[in-house]
Amino acid sequence: MASTNSKSPETKPSGSAFTGKMGYVMAAAASAVGLGNIWRFPYLCAKYGGGIFLVVYLILVFTFGYALLMSETAIGRMTGKSPIGAFKQFSNTKASAFGGWMNAIVPFIICPYYAVIGGWVVKYLVGYCTGETQAMAVDGYFGGYISSNLQPELFFIIFVLLTLVVILGGVQNGVEKVSRIMMPVLIILAVVVSIYSCTRPGAIDGIKYMFIPNIHNFSMMTIVSAMGQMFYSLSLAMGIMITYGSYVDKNQDLEDSTTKIEFFDTLVAVLAGLMIIPAVFAFSGGDPDTLNAGPSLMFVTIPKVLVSMGFGTPAGIVFFLLVFLAALTSAISLTETCVGTLTDELGWGRAKSTLIFGTYAILLGSLASLGYGALGNLKIIGMQVLDFLDFISNSVMMPISALAICILVTRCIGLKTMADEFERNSKFKRKPIYNFSMKYLAPVALIIILISSVLSAFGIISI
Ligand code: PFF
Repeated sequence: MASTNSKSPETKPSGSAFTGKMGYVMAAAASAVGLGNIWRFPYLCAKYGGGIFLVVYLILVFTFGYALLMSETAIGRMTGKSPIGAFKQFSNTKASAFGGWMNAIVPFIICPYYAVIGGWVVKYLVGYCTGETQAMAVDGYFGGYISSNLQPELFFIIFVLLTLVVILGGVQNGVEKVSRIMMPVLIILAVVVSIYSCTRPGAIDGIKYMFIPNIHNFSMMTIVSAMGQMFYSLSLAMGIMITYGSYVDKNQDLEDSTTKIEFFDTLVAVLAGLMIIPAVFAFSGGDPDTLNAGPSLMFVTIPKVLVSMGFGTPAGIVFFLLVFLAALTSAISLTETCVGTLTDELGWGRAKSTLIFGTYAILLGSLASLGYGALGNLKIIGMQVLDFLDFISNSVMMPISALAICILVTRCIGLKTMADEFERNSKFKRKPIYNFSMKYLAPVALIIILISSVLSAFGIISI
């Protein structure tokens, strides 16, 4: 991809080494489509209201998510810098420096626990390859597995090492090629599995649960979780899209690219929901405990679907291979962002930054991994370590990062300058939505969400 900045190619995020017209779109989509779509979206949708969650999520993605994605990419393209430098360029205040740092720190929190889930995926992939299809579908298998300490820790470390090897080896082009093939295959497989899930007896109730909004299922948590998911899924409020934007060609139509990324990311999330939620109804009759299963949902439901399929073992291998690749490409871009911050801000070499970051990720991730076993008693504000890391990054730090971006855009850069950037080479079609989201919707929603999620975490209110 043509680059417009001063960064050396080896510090580019993995996907951004793409070449050609679709370069940025493919790079951003490879970062965006990951565990968030396939593992996180279905369990949040199941837990926080089904259809009503989906409606809130879609509204957020196409207003607020769109505006933030556009803003971050444009900030990166205008400055040619990653978040800390980009914030500094527009404003030299302490508040702005804090905003830049906040954006840069979020991936440091996410990456370690992301790799723990990546490790679970590796385990399931290995399990299907070694013919454990029946065993993995048995009730209680997943819970027993994650509390078994040694294996989850081992697979977690394998996942981190694989990520580091790719980064150290600088094989971004390999990742690009894999992503290009993988994305279409992922969609096809997701369509096949979701058709299978949706045609099981009883699945229709799941389809209704997922698509027909029921106001009785609405709670403040529906909005809080949908917004956290939007940040997570679109890789927003964590510096990544600013960094990616710094590699985007000045001739690129940002609005068109943003629309493609949003659409693709949402499509994969909805397909993942269709693979899992109808299956919950088909196999467990919509049992509330299963719907509320949280992080374990994919690992519990998909094996049940697969075992009933007849060709479950090969389908399991392909499914978990694709989830693994989606997770790996996202983990690579998360790690690249962290390594980039260390090289830029501390002046460390690339190898040193990667190794130090790897050690840190293994230490923090181990706490999250063992939090389901040996460290089961280690609770932070009543949460297991992994849940806490997810909460603090998604419900606290990302709203602050996003708020910082809104303030930077509206107060320091100005909506007019932003519009000029978007109108460089095409019409700015969703300008009213953009301006409304950045000026009113986003700040108000972010403040409400931030306050309510913190108060609820401390048990002061229940949402
Ligand atoms: N968007 C990714 C997902 O949905 O899994 C997660 C993620 C990847 C966030 C990479 C940030 C990032 F830099």
